[in-house]
Amino acid sequence: MNLTGKVCLVTGGARGIGRAIVEAYAAAGAAAVYAIDMAFDEALTTHAAVKPVVLDVTDGTAVQTAIERIQADEGRIDVLVNNAGITRDALVQKMTDAD
Ligand SMILES: NC(=O)c1ccc[n+]([C@@H]2O[C@H](COP(=O)([O-])OP(=O)(O)OC[C@H]3O[C@@H](n4cnc5c(N)ncnc54)[C@H](O)[C@@H]3O)[C@@H](O)[C@H]2O)c1
Repeated sequence: MNLTGKVCLVTGGARGIGRAIVEAYAAAGAAAVYAIDMAFDEALTTHAAVKPVVLDVTDGTAVQTAIERIQADEGRIDVLVNNAGITRDALVQKMTDAD
């Protein structure tokens, strides 16, 4: 995989699959990998191309503001990985309305 010069955005980038994607994209030469998540540990910030953005993707206004800022800073977004999500595995009759 060669992402030289690409500007990438990965939601849910602090952990799990999203974090693995962030690290792989940075290693593949991306110019910037914006990792969006609700919180980060320090280890994610070691690669210069990785830019953590603290954001709840259910907050539409905050998402719009962040996208506009990234586009202003970078001029474009080449790759979007819409990975953030949660899993609520249970039988339907055991799930709450909040789940
Ligand atoms: N792991 C699996 O077997 C599997 C299977 C099917 C689908 N998925 C989907 O793949 C994606 C990643 O899975 P994973 O196992 O790495 O999950 P994970 O729970 O390890 O990581 C998900 C990340 O998304 C972030 N996130 C969740 N809601 C967010 C929000 N509102 N705003 C910002 N960030 C938010 C979390 O903080 C977390 O860092 C999820 O969407 C999941 O539903 C995973």
